[in-house]
Amino acid sequence: MSDEKNDKPIVLCVDDDRLVLRSLRRLLVRELSAAVAVELADSGERALAIIREGAEAGRPVAVMVCDMVMPGMSGGQLINIVNEEFPDVRSVLLTGQAGYQSIIDVINKSRLYRFVAKPWDNDDLVMTIREAVASWQQQRTIERQNLHLQQLNWQLEQRVRQRTAELERLSSELDEKNRELIRQAGVRKRLFANISHDLRTPLTAVLGYLEGMIGGVIEGEAERDKYLRLMFGRLKSLEKLISQLFEIARLESGSMPLNMQQVDLAGWCSEMVARYREDCLARGIEFDYGCQLTEGDVGRLLVRIDAVQWERVLNNLMDNAIGHTASGGRIELRLVGEKRRVVMMLGDSGCGIPQADRDKIFEWMWRGDRARTWRGGQSSGLGLAIAREIIEMHGGTVDVTSEVGRGTTFSVSIPRVTE
Ligand SMILES: Nc1ncnc2c1ncn2[C@@H]1O[C@H](COP(=O)(O)OP(=O)(O)OP(=O)(O)O)[C@@H](O)[C@H]1O
Ligand SMILES: [Mg+2]
Repeated sequence: MSDEKNDKPIVLCVDDDRLVLRSLRRLLVRELSAAVAVELADSGERALAIIREGAEAGRPVAVMVCDMVMPGMSGGQLINIVNEEFPDVRSVLLTGQAGYQSIIDVINKSRLYRFVAKPWDNDDLVMTIREAVASWQQQRTIERQNLHLQQLNWQLEQRVRQRTAELERLSSELDEKNRELIRQAGVRKRLFANISHDLRTPLTAVLGYLEGMIGGVIEGEAERDKYLRLMFGRLKSLEKLISQLFEIARLESGSMPLNMQQVDLAGWCSEMVARYREDCLARGIEFDYGCQLTEGDVGRLLVRIDAVQWERVLNNLMDNAIGHTASGGRIELRLVGEKRRVVMMLGDSGCGIPQADRDKIFEWMWRGDRARTWRGGQSSGLGLAIAREIIEMHGGTVDVTSEVGRGTTFSVSIPRVTE
């Protein structure tokens, strides 16, 4: 191959007659050197080597002008092989004294771009080669564009696949949110129904008692005293409900500022338990407190809490535990220090919570059947909802495990401050 370093398409001339080769080169260099690079081969074998080397080096042969009759590999054989290996190469067959039949054979068996009789007409040959090069270039452009289109198509398909997956994810998120909104709407509906019911019930009772007193139906010191006490009880529960509702409103609107302080939860709990122990003893319930530290702990479980709000959490959980545990039962408060969190567990040996109710107990104003009649109807189903809201404001979580007839354990977990 010549040293000519350019990316012009190569026109390869193949002839065993060096004179023919030379005149071909002269003609093509003169007429086409701006557009093509000319290579010469004096045999079919040499021509094949040039085409193969060119293909490997990224300088493909565009047009092969080849003599028909050559010793060794004939023009027809060469074109056949080139057609097989390099179907893009345009082959122009030059024929001199070749017999009619052998030309027909080549035309029938090979893909020939043109066939030109020797001696050729210069203008005709130049034009033929120019057209062959143009046709080769056109095909290359189309192939390149095809490849580009295929790549674009593939990228597009990828994008569509990604977007579809994204849309599916978003759609299932939306479905989930929708379900949650519907559930919350139901919770709110029940909340308002319960609030009006719980506000009206004690008021109606108190109004009834007062009517009885004013109308003289309730007479005598003892009777009056009895109804005054009943009214007091009713109004107390009303006061509790109203203050809980206020608390919820503040919690929900996020307008309750937390007075966060670093507190050793172990020390804080051991101060609280004295009171709980008394409450339990008064109801014949055994109370136990324990603090479990992990290896390397220095006996302190530091957390950041608003101690007043945290007391509310523990009070609500204790209140429930005591309320659902019969005399002779047992309540246990346990603190566990983990690497990054502190877990506060309150377990009771009470009546337990049916599986179906476990998701509902944290909803505003949801209360179990037992709680409706418990403590003269003073339960409003707000204690756990308030507790959970406060726990979450502290970056914590609350879980419940329970077995009907055996007891319930609430586990509250909050981030631990590392010392
Ligand atoms: N330790 C427990 N054992 C069994 N059931 C419980 C326990 N704690 C809560 N529950 C159930 O969960 C319901 C909701 O509890 P929550 O503390 O929110 O409301 P409440 O105790 O009924 O009323 P409030 O706390 O507002 O006075 C209770 O009514 C009860 O059915
Ligand atoms: Mg409660």
